[in-house]
Amino acid sequence: MAESIAFTMGADRGAIYDEIIPQIEALIGGEKDAVANMANIAAVLREALGFFWVGFYVERSGELVLGPFQGPVACTRIKFDQGVCGHAYTTRETVIVPDVDQFPGHIACSSASKSEIVIPVFDAGGGVFGVLDVDSDRLNDFSQTDAEGLGKIVRLFEATL
Ligand code: SME
Repeated sequence: MAESIAFTMGADRGAIYDEIIPQIEALIGGEKDAVANMANIAAVLREALGFFWVGFYVERSGELVLGPFQGPVACTRIKFDQGVCGHAYTTRETVIVPDVDQFPGHIACSSASKSEIVIPVFDAGGGVFGVLDVDSDRLNDFSQTDAEGLGKIVRLFEATL
């Protein structure tokens, strides 16, 4: 297993996704432990893309529970009808929120969080395993480039489940 991640500092996000995706595949492809893989994915995304907060919430007995993440401490439990994470879980769709203050029911784990993207993660049976949540301290920080790049990373993770 590689001991470090290589990426071009200062490159645009799309280029960095292209650089890190094969490295994430190598990092998690031979490992079946979901916690270990989520932890390494969060670490790579934080290191290569400098996100304010990046991590997973996993479904546990009818709610979302905080999983491996990088960044400031976060809310531990989120109900399916709450927040951006609950919305992504329920609709099974990627959600981009340019301004979290404009999203009804947004859960403010940190007042520094200004925009957000959440990608649902599916298990082998097609159920929702959980979500990948990325928060930015800048408004309107996420685009289709992130939806595609993070989506590819989530598909790699799903293949290990
Ligand atoms: N803002 C999220 C909650 C999770 S944290 O931001 C880490 C939401 O509304 O679902």
